[in-house]
Amino acid sequence: MIDIHSHILPGIDDGAQTMDDSIHIAKAAVEDGIHTMIATPHHKNGKYDNYKQDIIELTAELNHQLHIHNIPLTVLPGQETRIHGDMMEGIRADDILTLNNLGHYVFVEFPSDAVPRYAKQLLFDIQLEGYQPIIVHPERNKQIIQHPDILYNLVSKGAFTQITAASLTGRFGKNVQKFTHQLIEANQAHLIASDAHNTESRGFCMTDAYEEIRENYGESMVYLFAENAEYVVNGENLASDSPSRVKKKKFLGIF
Ligand SMILES: [Fe+2]
Repeated sequence: MIDIHSHILPGIDDGAQTMDDSIHIAKAAVEDGIHTMIATPHHKNGKYDNYKQDIIELTAELNHQLHIHNIPLTVLPGQETRIHGDMMEGIRADDILTLNNLGHYVFVEFPSDAVPRYAKQLLFDIQLEGYQPIIVHPERNKQIIQHPDILYNLVSKGAFTQITAASLTGRFGKNVQKFTHQLIEANQAHLIASDAHNTESRGFCMTDAYEEIRENYGESMVYLFAENAEYVVNGENLASDSPSRVKKKKFLGIF
């Protein structure tokens, strides 16, 4: 499996704190069936700033350590950028790192409780600049859960989304789990990833999440998610169907 979202790089955010932690996380990833992982440390989230060049260098160092420890995992550079007013300047200044540094996909994180008013325009500007924004874990955003049309409108305008494996397996509660399913059913989820921070409370769950997808939607949906992860790693176009709105009635019945 390919995992496109993780906090495996040591000592630069709230994920792995030391290289030993990183090795430990890498072993857990391999155990869960992951062979390729994009390291996506936080950037501009108010607590952590991690610029492109630093991430690339630390990723190379981690790969060297993985090689020494004989761990069959390849880590690629990436970044989880919190949406901020100066994001376009960051992109133009080459501070923002696209996934696998291919100049194609940019992770965009919203604050956990809201979607800024300028999000729509910014996601549009990112696309005008030639990049594809991927909204990370929208299923955990309070405002999106309450007003799912916010996400529908962004996806309709070309943004992609990445849901969290542990959301599908229930780690973030029943409501988030059900909402995640609704996003899949509405073609508003294009990728699935672990967002792993450690091996305990925020681990991988990728095998279990893919099993949940298989049980609910069959092998073709498993294939779609797996293939899209590969497209991200290769900087190719994602497969997607036209999104539909999350059905409000059903939605209100759940919350
Ligand atoms: Fe993350």
